Amino acid sequence: MNKITAAITAIGSYVPDFVLSNQVLETLVDTNDEWITTRTGIKERRLLKEEGKGTSYLAIKAAQNLLEKANLDPKEIDLVIMATATPDMPVASTGVYVATEIGATNAFAFDLHAACSSFLYGMSTASAYIASGKYKKVLLIGADKMSSIIDYTDRATCIIFGDGAGAVLFEPNSEGLGLQDEILKSDGIGREFLKIEAGGSILPATEETVKNKQHFVFQDGKTVFKYAVSGMADVSEKIMQRNNLTHDDVNWLVAHQANRRIIDATSNRMGLDDSKVLINIQKYGNTTSATLPLLLSDFENQLKKGDNIIFAAFGGGFTWGAIYLKWAYTK
Ligand code: UT7
Repeated sequence: MNKITAAITAIGSYVPDFVLSNQVLETLVDTNDEWITTRTGIKERRLLKEEGKGTSYLAIKAAQNLLEKANLDPKEIDLVIMATATPDMPVASTGVYVATEIGATNAFAFDLHAACSSFLYGMSTASAYIASGKYKKVLLIGADKMSSIIDYTDRATCIIFGDGAGAVLFEPNSEGLGLQDEILKSDGIGREFLKIEAGGSILPATEETVKNKQHFVFQDGKTVFKYAVSGMADVSEKIMQRNNLTHDDVNWLVAHQANRRIIDATSNRMGLDDSKVLINIQKYGNTTSATLPLLLSDFENQLKKGDNIIFAAFGGGFTWGAIYLKWAYTK
């Protein structure tokens, strides 16, 4: 009997309508379009502006887009994994609410938080459940409302992040397609360099923490940049080597969209031509858990059955890794 692998069989996505351009950011903080474009590759990002709507709103929209495109009855879904760094609330799983709202009433659900690597870790988790034979349909959603934790007076972070969501369906495959290999890493040294200090169990919310802006993302960009460049490039090169993949064998690099320069460093180390590197950072900025599925969604029509794809991500924590997946369908 052929081994069961976990293949992606459907994609959905959603980004909010509101566009925050570099030109508008120029009016909010001391920055300029030229600096942002050359240092990050970002031109604009999307923000969820409607009051009272959180990450679940983005996730539900992306999941509904997938259900409609795949003509899938949500009752068939066994498990919903919600990859996010910005849950609706600190307690009460966002994934559980999303699963109920989309009608996945036979599924169980949970949240998975690994900062910008949440979706990558989620791919590993979804795949393990499928390959074990335990479940047949696992919906993995990556969604973040980064605008809820960004200080729009801090030029070190507000130029980078945006809101968005993407969803993929994992199903068993017996043709050898789907997830082939993974290298996942983490290192607690990272927590000093990219964090939200307050609102957790160490420093619960007080008037003081609000006044000190400790509920917003703090990032030591330079340090994170250095770790991200070496971390993402190392695992991407290693996963190619141990699967005997040359740069000719790799069809696509689907990398976390945090900074164009980090992506370029990774693709250079892999020896990849620019035409194989999927990029949409200019449109959305860094949407944290949503970058990878938004790339799949934007470029779905170009992906062909059997294509070799390397996924790579780096995020706070630190968390990072690479996944080698064979694409399972042609649109
Ligand atoms: O997704 C999770 C993981 N996160 C990442 O991977 C992000 C990693 N880090 C980065 O992408 C980059 O470090 C940033 C985009 C955040 C910053 O770029 P950088 O090239 O590392 O800039 P820098 O912090 O070294 O600053 C260079 C200069 C400084 O001026 P001086 O000291 O050279 O005069 C900054 O004050 O640029 C200045 N600067 C800015 N200028 C205009 C910093 N931010 C801005 C800004 N606009 N927004």
